[in-house]
Amino acid sequence: MGERGTIRIESLTRTYGRVVALDGVDLEVRAGELMTLVGPSGSGKSTMLRLIAGLDRPESGRILVDGQDVSRVPPHRRSVAMVFQDYALYPHLTVLGNLLFGLRVRRVRRDEAERRARSAAERLGLADLLDRYPDQVSGGQRQRVALARALLREPAVYLLDEPLASLDAPLRFATRADLLTLHRDLGSTTVHVTHDQAEAMTLGDRVAVLDRGRIRQLGPPQQVYDEPADTFVAGFLGSPPMNLVPGGGLLGGSPGLIVGVRPEDLILDADGAIEVSVDAVEALGSESILLTRATDGTRLTVRAAARCGVRPGDAARLRPDPARLHHFDAETGRRR
Ligand SMILES: Nc1ncnc2c1ncn2[C@@H]1O[C@H](COP(=O)(O)OP(=O)(O)OP(=O)(O)O)[C@@H](O)[C@H]1O
Ligand SMILES: [Mg+2]
Repeated sequence: MGERGTIRIESLTRTYGRVVALDGVDLEVRAGELMTLVGPSGSGKSTMLRLIAGLDRPESGRILVDGQDVSRVPPHRRSVAMVFQDYALYPHLTVLGNLLFGLRVRRVRRDEAERRARSAAERLGLADLLDRYPDQVSGGQRQRVALARALLREPAVYLLDEPLASLDAPLRFATRADLLTLHRDLGSTTVHVTHDQAEAMTLGDRVAVLDRGRIRQLGPPQQVYDEPADTFVAGFLGSPPMNLVPGGGLLGGSPGLIVGVRPEDLILDADGAIEVSVDAVEALGSESILLTRATDGTRLTVRAAARCGVRPGDAARLRPDPARLHHFDAETGRRR
């Protein structure tokens, strides 16, 4: 039974009225894999998780978990635990009560249930909050309670819908590292939805990029970043996004092409071929983002060093790294 934790999705479609939330999606998540799912708001990420969890039904298509069609299996029997975007906790139960709830439903003995709940709480830094009610802890802590509750189900598959979204930057960074460790320890298959560029790049073994209910690209994050399959993915993964120049213009190229270059692949160089004026400088501490405009009007975003000395109104010259230009078909947007 090497299939525990595999998810297989076949031509899955879900529409709400005229909105096609998922449009014939095929996807395989391997046993033990951590897959991140990214895409703009409304692209179908939560819909996908809800369907896998059994909280919603597809119009057509199949979902197999552990190699078995789960279409007719109710949510609580799917060996799938979901952490929601808005982490619903029971407000009338303490943190400990929330953690124990699922175990009680499954008739785990009381002392055993407490032992497991306390250990999950410990793991997520909640040990001191067990007697508080959900409205007495912070948003980030509530989110961790929801995570701990999912951990306690010991499912074959975790579905996490933006579980770090409400955390502040340092906590988010720390929890991201915790999640990775946790995933490594548990070895459970996980599908993790995120809006966050850093999470998309660092968390998953593979990342799936969703757009209007379709998967545009699936692969290891660095590969998707280095070789985006189309202009949508090129513009979505990476912050600030890739510069896309129709016809190529100053980047070379030809009509019928869109030429792309990432901000970090435009190098400030006094001998550079592209002359620009600098409209704005965003000093981010660790780096500067320059918003520039070439003589032909093309806007180019440049990632430069923190104290690069460039100021708004300056003239500058840019040298694109020729090995890092991306070519897309202007008609279809596909990579060439
Ligand atoms: N219950 C519903 N009734 C009607 N339309 C819905 C329903 N749930 C989702 N939709 C629509 O389906 C599309 C996909 O929604 P979904 O929640 O899956 O997006 P998402 O990718 O999770 O977005 P976000 O990043 O904002 O959470 C959207 O256009 C949304 O408005
Ligand atoms: Mg969502």
